[in-house]
Amino acid sequence: MRKAALRRATSGLLVINMKGILFAIAAAAIAQAAPAFDKRWDNVGAASASGGIPAPTYSGRYPDSGPSTYNATGNLTQPEPKPYTPAGGINTNGSHIPVYHPASDFDYESLNLVLHQEYIELDLFEYGLKRFSAQDFEQAGLNQADRDLIAFMAQQEVGHAKMVTDILGPTAPKRCQYKYPFNTVHEFNDFCQKLTRWGESGVYGFLEHLDSRDSAQLLLQSITTEARQQMIFRQFDGLHPMPVWFEDGITQSMAWTLLAPYIVSCPADNPRLQWQNFPALNVTNNPNPAADNQYKPAISTNRPALFRPGEVINLSWENPGMKVGPNMSYTTSTNAGAPKFAGIISQLNLTYVPLENIKSNSAQFVFPNSFVYPSTDIAPGVLDPVVNETAFVFVTDDDPFLTPANLSLINSHIAAGPALLQAG
Ligand SMILES: *[C@@H]1O[C@H](CO)[C@@H](O)[C@H](O)[C@H]1NC(C)=O
Ligand SMILES: *[C@@H]1O[C@H](CO)[C@@H](O)[C@H](O)[C@H]1NC(C)=O
Ligand SMILES: *[C@@H]1O[C@H](CO)[C@@H](O)[C@H](O)[C@H]1NC(C)=O
Ligand SMILES: *[C@@H]1O[C@H](CO)[C@@H](O)[C@H](O)[C@H]1NC(C)=O
Ligand SMILES: *[C@@H]1O[C@H](CO)[C@@H](O)[C@H](O)[C@H]1NC(C)=O
Ligand SMILES: *[C@@H]1O[C@H](CO)[C@@H](O)[C@H](O)[C@H]1NC(C)=O
Ligand SMILES: *[C@@H]1O[C@H](CO)[C@@H](O)[C@H](O)[C@H]1NC(C)=O
Ligand SMILES: *[C@@H]1O[C@H](CO)[C@@H](O)[C@H](O)[C@H]1NC(C)=O
Ligand SMILES: *[C@@H]1O[C@H](CO)[C@@H](O)[C@H](O)[C@H]1NC(C)=O
Repeated sequence: MRKAALRRATSGLLVINMKGILFAIAAAAIAQAAPAFDKRWDNVGAASASGGIPAPTYSGRYPDSGPSTYNATGNLTQPEPKPYTPAGGINTNGSHIPVYHPASDFDYESLNLVLHQEYIELDLFEYGLKRFSAQDFEQAGLNQADRDLIAFMAQQEVGHAKMVTDILGPTAPKRCQYKYPFNTVHEFNDFCQKLTRWGESGVYGFLEHLDSRDSAQLLLQSITTEARQQMIFRQFDGLHPMPVWFEDGITQSMAWTLLAPYIVSCPADNPRLQWQNFPALNVTNNPNPAADNQYKPAISTNRPALFRPGEVINLSWENPGMKVGPNMSYTTSTNAGAPKFAGIISQLNLTYVPLENIKSNSAQFVFPNSFVYPSTDIAPGVLDPVVNETAFVFVTDDDPFLTPANLSLINSHIAAGPALLQAG
């Protein structure tokens, strides 16, 4: 593996004096490569040294953070506007009238995507209950209360679709026709945990960037419900319910790439989605949780890791230019150059591993062996392997260092994917 494959991990302490001049950096860089790390601290120095008397800036120890103007002393730094009301916050002083409406094309298109996702979830849960008999469910280890729970999840989707429709207004898209890749109850559960994974992550990826903060809050309160659905379907699937410390976020184009193949047709007046459909990627040796019936539905399951560090993962992908999505009216495309890396989104991280045995439409990579935090002073020795759960993998032409706040910069580097990587 090249050194870039092992994501650098850092912890640093930055101390800045009144004039904002960099005093001292005590930083411990633990992993092999840390180019972005060095660049970041240079930028802090350059910003504060540029012209006149610079405003004081401060940094916490969060390694991926830029400078802030707030001095986190632990005490109030300004008088409180009202008793028990610390100064600051956005839209907190009572003069803001909430606006539950898209405030930009970005908002509209993000919510348009979300509504397509809510509708397929509604359809999928209803379809599963219709397609399989009570006996099919019983044989798969799910009883009447479990089926009632799935029925209730479908009702939750009615509420979510209503909420997003109300935000979008009269042009909101309507329910479409769908197709599903399962033949058994276990495969249904597995598809549901996958589809709700990209539904949930698809929202986390853009939530902080919405112009309408008021809409973002309502959306968050629906997506936390969806997160519970995802976990329950993992439990039905005989998987560990949540083998991660953090849930991941993906970009809208990634979510649309994953969703579009299951939409057969939509009403003609549905507004067109403006996100990209990347060429399809297949993890050809992806573990299939539904193929192993010794793991029954359970609150939690101690199941061996589906992929282990060092194991080889095989990828194959399509060329761009394929028709996909509603009425086959979307076309896959990429802006990237030749594939060089597998990019994996899991937890807080985008981890790259160099591709090996690269052919025109296939390659391999090695499952990485790194931790979200290589150490913490909270509990030294308690470690969280970075890739687990139902993760996202794609092939890229470059390996820019990105964090959740600037993750969308990866879109222009994606040659194919994402596909779901069934890591645990
Ligand atoms: C930040 O606050 C601390 C504690 O009050 C103070 O000692 C320090 O000088 C302040 N730093 C700046 C740059 O104002
Ligand atoms: C915070 O306030 C307490 C009580 O006034 C004071 O003793 C302490 O020094 C202050 N801490 C900082 C960092 O300013
Ligand atoms: C509340 O804050 C906004 C800016 O966020 C400001 O324009 C407005 O004047 C403030 N209103 C009051 C009553 O303080
Ligand atoms: C994923 O998490 C499960 C549950 O904690 C654990 O058994 C498994 O080893 C983890 N997988 C990897 C690749 O670390
Ligand atoms: C897609 O196909 C359906 C079913 O044939 C049709 O009713 C609908 O008008 C088509 N939608 C578009 C956008 O062409
Ligand atoms: C992915 O690859 C596997 C193994 O070759 C194959 O069975 C499966 O049909 C492929 N999936 C898609 C969507 O092409
Ligand atoms: C992965 O690819 C290698 C090399 O092409 C091949 O030998 C191997 O059989 C593949 N494994 C699986 C499980 O598809
Ligand atoms: C994972 O992401 C977090 C947040 O950006 C970062 O602090 C940490 O260093 C990253 N870990 C790795 C292994 O890249
Ligand atoms: C993304 O943000 C991180 C800080 O969280 C920064 O280090 C990195 O350089 C940014 N990447 C790009 C390509 O701007």
